[in-house]
Amino acid sequence: MPTQRNDEIRFDPDQYDDVAERFDRYSERTGFPITECLMEMTQVRRGRHLLDVACGSGIVTRRAAEIVGETGKAVGIDLSPGQIRVARRKAKAQGLGWAQFIVMDAMNLTFPDNTFDVVVAQFPHFPDRGRCIGEMVRVLRPGGRFAICNGGGGATIWGLKNAPTPADIPKGGVVDGLFRSCLETHFPQLIAPPAGNAPVQSVDPQTALRNELEQGGLLEIALGSYAHTSPFHTAEEAFEWESVRTSPYRMQQAALEPQSVEAFKGDYLRRVQKKLDRHGVLGLTTGALLGVGVKPKG
Ligand SMILES: C[S@@+](CC[C@H](N)C(=O)[O-])C[C@H]1O[C@@H](n2cnc3c(N)ncnc32)[C@H](O)[C@@H]1O
Repeated sequence: MPTQRNDEIRFDPDQYDDVAERFDRYSERTGFPITECLMEMTQVRRGRHLLDVACGSGIVTRRAAEIVGETGKAVGIDLSPGQIRVARRKAKAQGLGWAQFIVMDAMNLTFPDNTFDVVVAQFPHFPDRGRCIGEMVRVLRPGGRFAICNGGGGATIWGLKNAPTPADIPKGGVVDGLFRSCLETHFPQLIAPPAGNAPVQSVDPQTALRNELEQGGLLEIALGSYAHTSPFHTAEEAFEWESVRTSPYRMQQAALEPQSVEAFKGDYLRRVQKKLDRHGVLGLTTGALLGVGVKPKG
């Protein structure tokens, strides 16, 4: 069993602690169909043992706890103590006392080899994807199922059985891209860095993800994608979610000039408010590229 040296633990490098409450307010609304895709792809059932890596406020772990039940195991790990606190509180409030949450680095999982039936990661931010995927596969039992999803992914190709009812959002009410366009105007220096959760390779994202799963030693690899547009009812909540989920902005915001931040926010709210006035509801899309594989038995 690997040990985690204290000097290797780097808490909250992605600055999720301070936004844990705000993250949780929207992540379920925007991400729940993606979680359902992961549950279907891994074929998780009652009594199974599941690990959710980079669990954040625990939306996947909590959903898995409902499915595996008290005779199973649902464990979420994350490097942000703030996210883990919210995850524990939400699980308790939902009556899912058997869901476990641990502050742990995905680079050095402290579980023995072959521990879990299912290992998943939804929009993880991994400092070294190869190493973290290697760790996830190591703790998965032979024959167990692995699934991961990144941002992006394109049009929906996963035929989700439990698909959400389409929200009544007129096409003109969708404000995807507006936050980025305002960032470009006010803070162009924040546009360049990658999202932090996608494989950065010279090939297309599908091939890159497939390569990663192959290099992790997985078999029966299959890819899918899913996109979901969620309703937002005020310009402020659209701004709040965009400013939490846009990593370069979230991580740099404290270092930005407050007056410039006000000007940026004012510009975004004005533009979004016009759309809201015209359409009565706003839409923001979450897209995911999903990959699943099986750990070989022999
Ligand atoms: C975009 S959030 C996704 C959270 C959750 N899986 C969800 O879908 O709601 C990315 C998460 O990765 C976590 N993270 C970043 N580096 C990590 C690491 N080395 N080990 C474990 N978690 C990490 C962050 O703290 C954050 O909670």
